[in-house]
Amino acid sequence: MTTPSFHPLTIRECRRETADTVSIAFDVPADLADRFRFIQGQYLTLKTRIGDEEVRRSYSICSGVDEGELRVAVKKVDGGLFSTHANQSLAPGAVLDVMTPMGRFHTPIDPEAARTYVAFAAGSGITPVLSIVKTVLAQEPKSRFVLVYGNRTVSSIIFREELEDLKNRYMGRLVIHHVLSREPEEAGLLRGRIGAELVRALCDGPLTAEDIDAAFLCGPQPMVEEVRDALAACGTPAANIHVELFGTTTAARPAAKKAAADTPTDAATIAILQDGKRKEFTLPYDGESILDAAHRHGADLPYSCKSGVCCTCRAKVREGKVEMAENYSLEPWEVEAGYVLTCQSRPLTERVVIDFDAA
Ligand code: FES
Repeated sequence: MTTPSFHPLTIRECRRETADTVSIAFDVPADLADRFRFIQGQYLTLKTRIGDEEVRRSYSICSGVDEGELRVAVKKVDGGLFSTHANQSLAPGAVLDVMTPMGRFHTPIDPEAARTYVAFAAGSGITPVLSIVKTVLAQEPKSRFVLVYGNRTVSSIIFREELEDLKNRYMGRLVIHHVLSREPEEAGLLRGRIGAELVRALCDGPLTAEDIDAAFLCGPQPMVEEVRDALAACGTPAANIHVELFGTTTAARPAAKKAAADTPTDAATIAILQDGKRKEFTLPYDGESILDAAHRHGADLPYSCKSGVCCTCRAKVREGKVEMAENYSLEPWEVEAGYVLTCQSRPLTERVVIDFDAA
């Protein structure tokens, strides 16, 4: 696996999508084209300095893989340092440090497959879903897609025109249900919010939950969990439900927490493997996270949210044990296989070896 790395990329275009959302397309130099080749549903971590502060944020790619461009969408959030900067100040020609694409919010494409895909997205959660919709419809000519997209009002629907164009281009293979919480119900629009009731209504009508080959859920944690549980209750196999938390989540950076270590020592020895090199340091059991401690000791490890949401800091435990405070992004099989979110991990054993080169 190639280690994720930052590269300076120049902004080619900033396009206003809604009053509070801008999409940003980057120029990718030919020598970096391979490093920035992405899979539908992946995200980029952007890094810049705003004032005296280094700011990192992850944003999903909204381009389809065949479109020949690298574009993310940034929705302004209240008090959001980077999202405000992006919406108000970024312009073509500006340079940002951009990490190579990451993320596993996708399923493999099979041009011969005739699958039924469903996506439930809320607000800016449409961003990775748009990439998936465009890629699937272009590359799997026999598959169909049902998109349920929740917003407050018509004017807050991001990519509204693009979605309409896709619906016309893929007539009969793409169905879009707009669900609006602050608009009266009218033709083509549902009033309300995305939740269990809507899932049940869909699965009692045009869809059969058991036949859903892949369901992509992207939005705030409560919505995503409610839809996931409702789909599972209707009969969609858990393995077919894919989740990405987005927008507001209840995830907060956890306070340092004393790990339940049962060792005679006060501190663990941590070894970090990255790019074939090894770095060792000691870390008290009730101290900072392994990621923060490694940075303090000079390691340059990938991270973005530091809240257990984005998965950028994922690595594999080769030796010893750690405890994660939060995990909103690793799949059960990854935890089983020894993967951890290092921003959430504290040692439980005297010796811990963490491998950032593990595939
Ligand atoms: S940095 Fe986002 S999960 Fe660790």
